[in-house]
Amino acid sequence: MKIYFIKLLVFVFIFINISCENDSENDLIEVVTVPLVTYENSVKAIIDGNCISCHNDPPINFAPMPLLTFDQVKEAVDNRGLLDRVSSEDISFLMPAGGPRLPQPTIDVMIQWNTDGLLEQ
Ligand code: HEC
Repeated sequence: MKIYFIKLLVFVFIFINISCENDSENDLIEVVTVPLVTYENSVKAIIDGNCISCHNDPPINFAPMPLLTFDQVKEAVDNRGLLDRVSSEDISFLMPAGGPRLPQPTIDVMIQWNTDGLLEQ
């Protein structure tokens, strides 16, 4: 009986030990990784879908420059106020020209692209 009780104690001890095992920090801390916004993974599709009907190469409808490549779009953010144009509430300043304004989450993606460093990929 005594032996049996000791065996049981040992078993319980081992069992508790196994259940409390911690072999990964991820069990303790929730790690949330938000992927960076890049030209390739997000911005190109937005520009292709909303801007190149005018900002083609050559540009049409009196648009002043193409927005077909990473360099062209980055240059427009840096020197042509692209983010101000898509964020504007002023219909005469807004891009896409003539509206409608892009959905706010889409605009936010482009702003986040700038925050993330205007990466190509
Ligand atoms: C219907 C045609 C049309 C569409 C669609 C369009 N644009 Fe334009 N864009 C123009 C025209 C015309 C101009 C020049 C007149 C002006 O600055 O308002 C212009 C000017 C700009 C400028 C300022 C260039 C400068 O040097 O001052 C930026 C930046 C721009 N567009 C970005 C965009 C972006 C980004 C989109 C898509 C979200 C877009 N445009 C969609 C016609 C368009």
